[in-house]
Amino acid sequence: MDTIECIKTRMSIRKFMPDPVPKEILLDIINTARYSPSYKNTQPWEVIILSGEKKRALSNMLVDLLEKWTKPSPDIPEPLTWPETEQARIDDLLMKRAAVTGIDFNDPSVLKKSKEVNFKFYGAPHAMYLYQNKSLTPWSIFDIGLFAQSLMLSAHAAGLGTVPQAFATDYASEIKKFLDIPDTKRIILGISIGYPDKDAAEKSLKTDRDNIENFVKWVD
Ligand SMILES: Cc1cc2nc3c(=O)[nH]c(=O)nc-3n(C[C@H](O)[C@H](O)[C@H](O)COP(=O)(O)O)c2cc1C
Repeated sequence: MDTIECIKTRMSIRKFMPDPVPKEILLDIINTARYSPSYKNTQPWEVIILSGEKKRALSNMLVDLLEKWTKPSPDIPEPLTWPETEQARIDDLLMKRAAVTGIDFNDPSVLKKSKEVNFKFYGAPHAMYLYQNKSLTPWSIFDIGLFAQSLMLSAHAAGLGTVPQAFATDYASEIKKFLDIPDTKRIILGISIGYPDKDAAEKSLKTDRDNIENFVKWVD
């Protein structure tokens, strides 16, 4: 698959086959993501990959915290409001996802259900967390974003599906304790990874992008 096709055809996958991905393939994908650029080549990323019983136990812990209505405290706070342009894009996304999935996003129980499927990593056989030292600046969060995109593109090129998940970081301090990650680190992103389930209704939602004339200024 060429680079342009890879970028244009990657999409978030939210239903997976249960089959585990061989360790060599997962490591190969991370090996490729390692080539991402970073501020002064600091490479401010650390990755933990979870599978099997440990992944299930983490999911159970997260669902349990949700059931107890524990207040989320992700290391990067969830945005509570958005500027008008970005909010309009969110509204558009939810409307289209509702059409594909039949989910009514105005139903208050939907957020809880949505968190639950996030915490179960959408049934993927593996979950990854990307994390880094807390003392790093916002540039390093930017760098880990570049790393995440390289990782998801490499996975897509290898026939795997991924979905990046801010929600999966909701209970950051409990996750770090569970995974023996020191509290001097911050968890940036969870990523579910596995072979896509080709029949999933959700998978068929190809999200739109705004036209370039709406966000590009050409000056000469
Ligand atoms: C930083 C970040 C956080 C995200 N968090 C979640 C999440 O918690 N749960 C989820 O299902 N999708 C999450 N997504 C996926 C986005 O909804 C998705 O990328 C967007 O709608 C565009 O769709 P596409 O990935 O299919 O192109 C996240 C994406 C990014 C980049």
